[in-house]
Amino acid sequence: MRAAIIYSSKTGNTEEVIQLLWRLFLEKQVQAECFRIEEFPIEDLNDYNAVVIGTYTWGNGEIPREMQAIYQVFETRNVKELVTGVVGTGDTCYPQFCGAVNKFRDMLFVQTNLAVTLKIELAPQIEDYARCQKFVELILNRVKKQQYH
Ligand SMILES: Cc1cc2nc3c(=O)[nH]c(=O)nc-3n(C[C@H](O)[C@H](O)[C@H](O)COP(=O)(O)O)c2cc1C
Repeated sequence: MRAAIIYSSKTGNTEEVIQLLWRLFLEKQVQAECFRIEEFPIEDLNDYNAVVIGTYTWGNGEIPREMQAIYQVFETRNVKELVTGVVGTGDTCYPQFCGAVNKFRDMLFVQTNLAVTLKIELAPQIEDYARCQKFVELILNRVKKQQYH
């Protein structure tokens, strides 16, 4: 089972969530490979059973510029079998809370085997721990289900 976590974070909130998810994957005996978007070798995308996208939201509900290339890769490659999840942090003061998560969700739902979406208000709090656990479980369950087919 190979899982990649690919993310971008400007002020560290999304990175905190990603670190938590990484630990939770490890608790389930999965050593996820974690990449800042700039470091991810895009040609390796199909080598993974599961890919988690982590993104903050910018502008008016927009996907950050550095995440746009991978969005397009998902749109143009055959990644139908890939299990995916999208997680993001945002700020409810903005009208489009976690707009980038919504945009990735809608595209990944069509292009991939989307298992789960998660939105977190700024930095993760104690109560987000269980939500992150659930996130990891849903990804792993979907991968298992796919392996039986
Ligand atoms: C210029 C600017 C625009 C933003 N626009 C949005 C937005 O439209 N929706 C939202 O939910 N959050 C918005 N945010 C909040 C960030 O997404 C939020 O602070 C996030 O946790 C930052 O993640 P990071 O610490 O990983 O960089 C905006 C922040 C800034 C500075």
